Amino acid sequence: MSDKTGTAQIGVVGMAVMGSNLARNFASKGFKTAVFNRTYAKTEAVVAAHPEAGFIASETVEEFVDSLEKPRRILIMVKAGPATDATIDSLLPHLDQGDIIVDGGNTHFPDTRRREKRIAELGFNFIGCGISGGETGALLGPAMMPGGPKDSYAHIGPILEKISAQYDGEPCCTWIGQDGAGHFVKMIHNGIEYADMQFIGEAYDLLKGAGLSATEAADVFAQWNTGDLDSYLIEITAEVLRQVDAATGKPLVDVVVDAAGMKGTGTWTVQSSLDLGVPAAAIAEAVFARAASGSTSLRAAARAALQGPDGVISVDDREAFIADVRQALWCAKVIAYAQGLHLIKVGAEEYGWDIDVAACARIWRAGCIIRAKLLDRISNEYAAGNLETLLEAPSISAELAASNGSWRRVVARAAEAGVPIPGFSSALSYYDLVRADRTNAALTQGLRDFFGSHTYRRIDKEGTFHTLWSGDRSEVEAEDTH
Ligand code: ATR
Repeated sequence: MSDKTGTAQIGVVGMAVMGSNLARNFASKGFKTAVFNRTYAKTEAVVAAHPEAGFIASETVEEFVDSLEKPRRILIMVKAGPATDATIDSLLPHLDQGDIIVDGGNTHFPDTRRREKRIAELGFNFIGCGISGGETGALLGPAMMPGGPKDSYAHIGPILEKISAQYDGEPCCTWIGQDGAGHFVKMIHNGIEYADMQFIGEAYDLLKGAGLSATEAADVFAQWNTGDLDSYLIEITAEVLRQVDAATGKPLVDVVVDAAGMKGTGTWTVQSSLDLGVPAAAIAEAVFARAASGSTSLRAAARAALQGPDGVISVDDREAFIADVRQALWCAKVIAYAQGLHLIKVGAEEYGWDIDVAACARIWRAGCIIRAKLLDRISNEYAAGNLETLLEAPSISAELAASNGSWRRVVARAAEAGVPIPGFSSALSYYDLVRADRTNAALTQGLRDFFGSHTYRRIDKEGTFHTLWSGDRSEVEAEDTH
């Protein structure tokens, strides 16, 4: 027993930027907060820089665990992967039954499932919590997506809800589902974020193609941010486009290398969509576009070899064109949400999670990177009815119907002018694909039956059939071989 024993309500492990900002957030909400970092110097630096937080600092993991009230609540904010396992292993020998470990890192959900199973068997609680909002969100209120044993949420949930962002007085944090559900939903949040950013980039390219300067485009985005497109990413797009490079006097966007980085969550989202057989091509296009941007040798070879229009769009009525791009951006954004939310629904069925899709959209309304006015409507639509897809929600389908003329014009103009818009055009194809009475898959089935006897079903009777392609081409009933 020391005078610190059992005094802290929450402990944070990992004093890099996210961990220390979350610790400061807990402290600012009145929670006595214990802090720990593998390298003690970092802990000392954070404690010295933030005396107002009244942190309880420990040099050893034993001391740190001992400083927490029971059942202990420990939030791990270390580098995702082996560091998380190493941190968990260092904590486990000092815990008591019922203690709660929360992993707030950007962990791939299968890792969370594995860890949750192991830790539950040892008698402890493990929560995988997706956290979005970047450094500022961590400090002032992020969106939080905790998943794990539901009964442990009673001990940790209220504290997380206190430090999360608030939207109209409601916390942007709710229990998402069992084991890896929270990290799964956070992963898809990031996939949607990739798509949102790709669409914004495409809209900017179109405005640029029509002759707008970066500053003029910034004004357009700022204007869009006052309406239906109101969102954090649109807001900061105006700021980034307005930024002038001090060294050259040019718009910053013109001097930044056009190769986008990524840390993996977009790729995981697409991998999951493939595993689950969920069409999420608009999100995939966003991930591929980043990959293409960084494929220096591919781009150099193609630039040298390929001819086509130069991306200039001649417009007679600039305002009308800008309005069309705005509608196209809104429609594409809705498609990405529809694809991401469909992936959540199918993932929940596959992994046995009790996920409320309306709640996911609700907690994304503030704090996180994809926060947007549209999410309020989306969450209301999901709450109002058990939607198979967002696109069937009455207000959404009506607006898509009203806007798809603009969307088509934009895609056609871009194709004619040679402006790459993989996101906009993929999203439009998805819209047309899923609303089609018949798709070209009937021909695909015919081809598969021809070369591989893979059989087909008929629209007019039950059963499975095969045409004797190498024989007299009559049809026979067959075993279903898919
Ligand atoms: P940064 O965000 O500063 O780049 P990082 O390498 O991503 O740092 O690590 C973030 C946190 O994970 C740090 O608290 C780091 O601890 P150290 O300050 O001691 O490096 C922690 N971390 C990284 N690897 C770890 C490990 N194997 N075990 C425990 N903590 C680890």
